[in-house]
Amino acid sequence: MVHVIDHPLIQHKLTMLRDKNTGPKEFRELLEEISSLMVYEITRDLPLEEIEIETPLKRTKGKVLTNKEIGIVPILRAGLVMAEGILKLLPSAKVGHIGLYRDHETLQPVQYYTKLPEDIDKREVIVVDPMLATGGSAIAAISILKARKVKKIKFVCLIASPEGVKALEESHPDIEIYTAAIDEYLDENGYIVPGLGDAGDRLFGTK
Ligand code: PRP
Ligand code: URA
Repeated sequence: MVHVIDHPLIQHKLTMLRDKNTGPKEFRELLEEISSLMVYEITRDLPLEEIEIETPLKRTKGKVLTNKEIGIVPILRAGLVMAEGILKLLPSAKVGHIGLYRDHETLQPVQYYTKLPEDIDKREVIVVDPMLATGGSAIAAISILKARKVKKIKFVCLIASPEGVKALEESHPDIEIYTAAIDEYLDENGYIVPGLGDAGDRLFGTK
């Protein structure tokens, strides 16, 4: 199932991010801020338990998060900045990394690095990557996690294409997808339109 998180603050920052005149420093800050804001929706179903505490006035019951262990897995490179934004609100999460890049000719993902927490199979995992274009990278990353016996996985992006959502839902129907926008279409080079261009290059100034 796909959840579009279209809170006004997120839409405002996303528009600034899309603007081609926004440089790498501001782009990184905006992406990190949006990722933090998205955490409220992504974690809406986290389990709570009741505990007893004492306020200065009386003994009462309050709710706290159960010891639900979370893993955050950015897809390199562009997922790194999203992971920082999410970690601000989930500071005890462990972080794994999956390195994938799209072959420019075939648009197929090429895997070059994987480092995951040893206990990843016991964690609820949030995979992050700003762009869901053909869906190839997200599908490959989630397959890697499933091969490591991860049971609950959420995929969080900033902009999805309709084609990417369809491909991901077909390959991994059990995954919840969270995005700030679903754009119009994928162009012949596999870019999301209107999109924001190449997320990695805009984040790190590589082009
Ligand atoms: C971008 C983006 C995703 C992928 C999405 O990364 O960050 O990982 O493309 O495209 P897909 O849905 O068609 O797989 P890229 O491959 O450019 O690597 P980079 O982050 O290292 O620049
Ligand atoms: N990767 C990006 O960074 N941008 C796109 O539009 C598609 C894939």
